[in-house]
Amino acid sequence: MRVQRAQKWSVSGYERNARFVAELGSPLIGILNPVEGERILDVGCGDGFLTEKISEAGATVVGVDTSKDLLDAARARGVSAQEMDGQRLEFVEEFDAVFSNAALHWMPDAGGVAAGVARALKSGGRFVGEFGGHGNVAAIVSAIYGALRINGLQSEFENPWFFPTAEEYGSLLEQHGFRVQEIALLPRPTPLPTGIEGWLETFAEPMLNSIGREKSASVLNTVIQLLEPTLKDRSGNWTADYVRLRFAARKP
Ligand code: BEZ
Repeated sequence: MRVQRAQKWSVSGYERNARFVAELGSPLIGILNPVEGERILDVGCGDGFLTEKISEAGATVVGVDTSKDLLDAARARGVSAQEMDGQRLEFVEEFDAVFSNAALHWMPDAGGVAAGVARALKSGGRFVGEFGGHGNVAAIVSAIYGALRINGLQSEFENPWFFPTAEEYGSLLEQHGFRVQEIALLPRPTPLPTGIEGWLETFAEPMLNSIGREKSASVLNTVIQLLEPTLKDRSGNWTADYVRLRFAARKP
């Protein structure tokens, strides 16, 4: 049996353990620079925290996501949100800009995303995003692999995350007709407000659940032990080794 790829999101868990993900993505809205009257698509909008912020500029924003629970939370904020996979976007030349924060690393079909965004944009439209880049949460990924091996489960994990280099993602955007204006990897050590336990609860436990509750608890304990020497400081605070890939591109 392989660990399933599908991620199940808990709205309350996300709020408790991962609110920082959207908060730290807020500066990206400055790069997007939304203008009153524009139509903007937010790919992987989650609970709509940033979608709502973008709309405060007077733009009409549509969010898409695959999690029904997060979409309900987005709608509860008054955000217009539709169930749609970012790898299979269905829009045609209707947006001035496409935005995405901390979502594209959950979409391994990056070509499908780029093709759908290119199709969704009007000519001259911009694509602005940030997600996990090469080396993102490397210590955590290594600890998950190590913990599975220690627990005799090494063949059961399929890494669900896409963390490309700037060169790989830049050339993929160009292959889909974009002009890349900026693209860079930005190391961003990120304090975890609820520690590594909270992070794993939200981002790793739902994937590991299919190996069974008992085995998954044992794997998570081992992951924590393996990470303590590098991600936990002497005051007991945890910091994750985030690396963001930030980019801005334009459809000619
Ligand atoms: C991220 O935002 O970089 C991330 C979140 C969860 C799992 C992996 C990466």
